[in-house]
Amino acid sequence: MNDKKFYITTPIYYPSAEFHIGHCYTTIIADAIARYKRLDGYDVFFQTGTDEHGLKIENKAKEKGVTPKEYVDVIIENAKDLWKNLGISYDYFIRTTDEDHVRRVQKIFEKLYNQGDIYKGEYKGLYCVPCESFWTESQLVDGKCPDCGREVKEVSEEAYFFRLSKYQQKLEDFYEQNPKFIQPESRKNEMLNNFIRPGLEDLCVSRTSFKWGIPVTFDDSHVIYVWIDALTNYITSLGYPEETEKFNKYWPADLHLVGKEIVRFHTIIWPALLMALDLPLPHQVFGHGWLIIDGGKISKSLGNYKDPRDYINAYGVDAVRYFSLREVPFGSDGNFSEEALITRTNADLCNILGNLVSRTIQMGIKYFDGNVSNKETYEDIDQDLISSTYNLKEIVDNKMSELKINEALESIFDVLRKCNKYIDDTTPWSLAKDEENKDRLETVLYNLLDSIRVCAILLQAFIPSTSEKIFSGLKVTNTLFKDIDNKPESFELGLEKPANLFERIKEN
Ligand code: MSP
Repeated sequence: MNDKKFYITTPIYYPSAEFHIGHCYTTIIADAIARYKRLDGYDVFFQTGTDEHGLKIENKAKEKGVTPKEYVDVIIENAKDLWKNLGISYDYFIRTTDEDHVRRVQKIFEKLYNQGDIYKGEYKGLYCVPCESFWTESQLVDGKCPDCGREVKEVSEEAYFFRLSKYQQKLEDFYEQNPKFIQPESRKNEMLNNFIRPGLEDLCVSRTSFKWGIPVTFDDSHVIYVWIDALTNYITSLGYPEETEKFNKYWPADLHLVGKEIVRFHTIIWPALLMALDLPLPHQVFGHGWLIIDGGKISKSLGNYKDPRDYINAYGVDAVRYFSLREVPFGSDGNFSEEALITRTNADLCNILGNLVSRTIQMGIKYFDGNVSNKETYEDIDQDLISSTYNLKEIVDNKMSELKINEALESIFDVLRKCNKYIDDTTPWSLAKDEENKDRLETVLYNLLDSIRVCAILLQAFIPSTSEKIFSGLKVTNTLFKDIDNKPESFELGLEKPANLFERIKEN
């Protein structure tokens, strides 16, 4: 058995409307990390999915005159198509309407009830229907929902509660003992100071006011309210509680990627639930920022977005992936705009990467009929390029282990930039004028091809289809991270000039 395992998750998204670039953002990042780990020899389990219950979806379906299941089925089919278009390599797609999930959530709820961690009480609170969130008076902004700015209404109903308050000290201790559990650091302080230390209240975990949810088995006027249903997806998918094989192999999760507004649920409610179930806690929850448009969050309720497939069709899948991974430091908010996407694509993918690959291959074809071997006619100038190339994996590893994904890409592009400069400095076209420089010319081209090979191996995690094209141009077949250090003796490029990797996009 491979003891290097890695379990990574995205949040399960609400299929209340079609997915937008904000959902793509989290999923692309999770995909890049999953691919990176696979290339590094890990046995990866990468999960995404959909969170399908709740009043909002019940209402949307009613408006359309369909059942909630019919309503979400269409959106989910579209979402899966979107993930396919984006090259998302998930291993499992969980739907909270899956029979297995429903049955397992019911068992978990029963267990928590039987052991006294869930009890029946009365809920009074201020509720925002579109966000499906309860708020306390002090959380409201100008008397309105702090997330969407809409009216909240006072609601009172009989409900089941999870004894969250019981876990306050245990959570604090856990944070203390596991300083990397919440990342970035600032989010940890926010959790401690704003939520845990002021005191945790028990959490309402059932509803009687709507039907579209998982019924409580021993009290069927109640459905299980969102968080127990949603958060447990990370373990029900692995077979918990009754099937243990996958669960024992992959749990605890190594990384839950979540948007900053749901860090609270993943770092307070989720660990407390796991403590109650006597299960190990995930290694890390990373709360990332939002992509924003004109200063506001891209959101279904605001409707300020295009179908992400429009961008893929216009600019190519790797332009969208690269932009999402490179533009914004992971953790911070960042602006999304089509202009920025175009600028980034032209500057990096077209000018730095695409040009380098095409001119290097063309020179290999022109000067050596596509057969470039290492003549080892080195000069001092080569050392910098070669050492930067062979130090790159370690640099990228370090960045990735801290999830500094934009910096990992920046490091790879630094080497690609160096390759371009190396061409300018060595001027292969002048070397080609003199037969005496033939071995030197071949060494220069070999060095370039080898650096491109190494960069393409690393880039696979981020822009896989571009790396594929480079591999086929270079006729390279050993493309795992462990192959980086196996320098090929020669590159057999063939005689066919490859198509450009990226066409320059017209900027307005
Ligand atoms: N269903 C819950 C999550 C349950 S996980 C057990 C949920 N769904 S959501 O569809 O509203 O949001 C899912 C994720 O998408 C969140 O992490 C959220 O931050 C992310 N994004 C939604 N819009 C986004 C942006 N504009 N930018 C970046 N991420 C965004 O919450």
